[in-house]
Amino acid sequence: MGTKGREIVGKNVDRVLELLNKAFADEWLAYYQYWLGAKIVAGPMKDAVIAELMQHAADELRHADMVSNRIIQLGGTPITTPTKWFDMTNCGYDEPSDPFVQRILEQNIKGEQCAISVYHALVEEVGLKDPITYNIASQILQDEVEHEEDLQSLYEDLGMMLERRG
Ligand SMILES: [Fe+2]
Ligand SMILES: [Fe+2]
Repeated sequence: MGTKGREIVGKNVDRVLELLNKAFADEWLAYYQYWLGAKIVAGPMKDAVIAELMQHAADELRHADMVSNRIIQLGGTPITTPTKWFDMTNCGYDEPSDPFVQRILEQNIKGEQCAISVYHALVEEVGLKDPITYNIASQILQDEVEHEEDLQSLYEDLGMMLERRG
């Protein structure tokens, strides 16, 4: 922990740490959901979907790394056990129990939309009182917006294909 770096965040620091740990839980659950989804997904266009989901899973893991570094910098501790992910998560975990490509895409689009809301709220709440967290959350928000768009355009392509076949 850097004392001056923590001091500039002021009395808000515990709240910022709580928000960061909640986002940290979301990233791990999203990582696992997308990673597993990429393994089991089945149906038309699955190769394109697998490539996208693997990329997103890698991004979520990188986000977990970015968020945990900021938690440590502020003198906090990243959640130390996976059982707590479920207590802390904003977005939860959507079990990919149906491997059909359309269903997996729907679940993951919902996950990305939740992540967008979480980081947007984080950016709004910390504001310029904490420019470092603001910057990290903005970078992640940018990725989550890209993720949503990637998945929605795959979902649209798939819908067009299924419609023409039917
Ligand atoms: Fe993420
Ligand atoms: Fe994402």
